Amino acid sequence: MGVIATQEKEVFDIRELNLWYDTNHALKDIDFPIHEKEVTAIIGPSGCGKSTFIKTLNVMNRTVPGVRIQGEINYRGKNILRPKTDLVELRKQVGMVFQQATPFPKSIYENVAYGPKIHGVHKKSKLNEIVENSLKGVALWEEVKDRLHAPALGLSGGQQQRLCIARALATEPDTILMDEPTSALDPISTMKIEELILELKQKYTIVIVTHNMQQAARVSDKTAFFLMGELIELDETKMLFSNPSDQRTEDYITGRFG
Ligand SMILES: Nc1ncnc2c1ncn2[C@@H]1O[C@H](COP(=O)(O)OP(=O)(O)O)[C@@H](O)[C@H]1O
Ligand SMILES: [Mg+2]
Repeated sequence: MGVIATQEKEVFDIRELNLWYDTNHALKDIDFPIHEKEVTAIIGPSGCGKSTFIKTLNVMNRTVPGVRIQGEINYRGKNILRPKTDLVELRKQVGMVFQQATPFPKSIYENVAYGPKIHGVHKKSKLNEIVENSLKGVALWEEVKDRLHAPALGLSGGQQQRLCIARALATEPDTILMDEPTSALDPISTMKIEELILELKQKYTIVIVTHNMQQAARVSDKTAFFLMGELIELDETKMLFSNPSDQRTEDYITGRFG
């Protein structure tokens, strides 16, 4: 059987999303579907709202002073901007990885076990299994299995970033958000993370902000181009880079600004 006409199931359905930092209108009328088991890349010049947008997907910025958010972010059919949303549960399902790898000052093991413990897993054998599987999931197991109780901060930058992804995987998420996950890494570590992203998308939905257009082209299925708080264009990655429909996208990808 071929894979013709794969059903594109929506994980996020974002409608008329607007966000202000006081009077700074940082996201403007964003309509944005995000599909299951795809990699969606977000590109655009510095300050265009990429980080603001991706943080909004697990409601990380609502508590920032002066922030006002309007519109809908439907995640699996529920508007997570409603005050009732259980943010602990949401963040278990929608994990986040940042530009600067941010392991806790604890052991490698404890970094990965932390999330599952918060969510009520306490059995040692179960935790061991989660830690092993999560570290295998990011191709870090072989490198660290003999020093699981050593400090995570002793790992290299690239290993720390893979550990942070393992930490996100440990709570069995559905979606992983990554905000410029490789911009602090060397080329080899970057390549490993890119390979990992291609593997992870078999099981997870991934949204990645990158300032590197080649990276977007290498890893993503869909690419979104943001400019000054607006979503200018969202399309199949191949299409967006070969035949953009908006002049501003074309100007950006051909290096005329940014
Ligand atoms: N915590 C914040 N408080 C106030 N303004 C912010 C904050 N974070 C971002 N901004 C502003 O929102 C706009 C978009 O920023 P950001 O989302 O960080 O862009 P990008 O990630 O594309 O570089 C910018 O004008 C920035 O100055
Ligand atoms: Mg940013």
